[in-house]
Amino acid sequence: MDTLTQILKNNKEWAEKVTKNDPDFFYNLSLQQSPKYLWIGCSDSRVPANQIVNLPPGDVFVHRNIANVVVHTDLNALSVIQYAVEVLEVKHIIVCGHYGCGGVKASMDDNQHGLIDNWLRHIQDVHRFHATELDAIADQQLRFDRLCELNVQEQVRNVLNITTVKNAIDAGKELNIHGMIYNINDGLLRNMNI
Ligand code: CO
Repeated sequence: MDTLTQILKNNKEWAEKVTKNDPDFFYNLSLQQSPKYLWIGCSDSRVPANQIVNLPPGDVFVHRNIANVVVHTDLNALSVIQYAVEVLEVKHIIVCGHYGCGGVKASMDDNQHGLIDNWLRHIQDVHRFHATELDAIADQQLRFDRLCELNVQEQVRNVLNITTVKNAIDAGKELNIHGMIYNINDGLLRNMNI
């Protein structure tokens, strides 16, 4: 069976299983979505948003890009955040990074990787903001881990500075911003309590 046939077969089986458990599941979802969470995560195939928090379709509004970066001028991310906050009225925005992030790793070496280097500059900025702390870590792996964590911290800060988010908080809307980091080695998510 070729790959595409396989994924279509998987989909059919999944839809049947869901319908068997709850015959109205897809009908109810078709009427509206009211997710409580906006997830901003990495595109990495090992960090699928819904799956790692065990939530069904309809519960998480998702934005993913390489290295879970929130850039002030990224129309894509800004639009997702505006829609999530103003229309869907999510209660939580979760910025989720992960250890072993290829984007973060690539930002730490001196090699050229093509177009993506321009995106990774944002992580090099994070590196520069925290140069004193990072340069003091002798072990390369620990420094890499720490940059993955600091990247989450900085992206949470960037979320807080987005006008849509600022306005919602000023208007007294219930909106909580969290930074989390996922460990690919054990499948566990940790709240960084930022
Ligand atoms: Co990544």
